Amino acid sequence: MVVRAARADDRPFVLATVGRLAVFGPPPWRTAAEVVAGEARTLRAFFDAPDPSWELLIADSAAPATPADVAAAAAPERLGFAFLEELRDYFTLEAHGHIGILAVTEAAEGRGVATTLIRAAETWSRDRGHRALTLNVFETNRHARDVYEHVGFRPETVRYVKRF
Ligand SMILES: CC(C)(COP(=O)(O)OP(=O)(O)OC[C@H]1O[C@@H](n2cnc3c(N)ncnc32)[C@H](O)[C@@H]1OP(=O)(O)O)[C@@H](O)C(=O)NCCC(=O)NCCS
Repeated sequence: MVVRAARADDRPFVLATVGRLAVFGPPPWRTAAEVVAGEARTLRAFFDAPDPSWELLIADSAAPATPADVAAAAAPERLGFAFLEELRDYFTLEAHGHIGILAVTEAAEGRGVATTLIRAAETWSRDRGHRALTLNVFETNRHARDVYEHVGFRPETVRYVKRF
């Protein structure tokens, strides 16, 4: 598996994969459609008007190693992506990395793609001088929370919502 910066031709893959971000089942006051639309809006903004504090990483299946492999193999397959931002800590104003969006294709799930993307995000963040990487996750997305805790993240604040 290789992780690389996104190119313009990754746009269809990223926007097709964004539906994965609602499969966990949003809370009753949040529709899957609005979750997907919100994530797609952010990703379209990345391709249309990129900001220097953003990065989009794509995980590809490994590139062919030899010319014979090149002749025999299909093009690397896209497995997942991570959208990264530089944010400032609310309390200290210190800049830190933030994984804004992370999604792995259904076919590639459970093969270490998220772990590889998170490690690459850590490298991106450290290279910018950050001392922390953050992310938000829906409270009901138990699987993603387990994965994040497995790779070393710990919960901090909990956002409460009261709908009228
Ligand atoms: C959540 C998601 C990104 C995980 O991606 P993935 O590529 O399947 O995850 P990985 O295979 O890298 O697994 C990550 C690690 O968590 C571990 N893990 C997986 N499920 C676990 C669980 N229930 N409890 C504890 N650890 C678990 C894995 O064993 C792995 O650790 P290892 O490398 O030491 O074996 C993926 O399921 C996904 O895209 N889901 C839909 C979109 C989504 O919900 N994104 C998150 C939005 S915040």
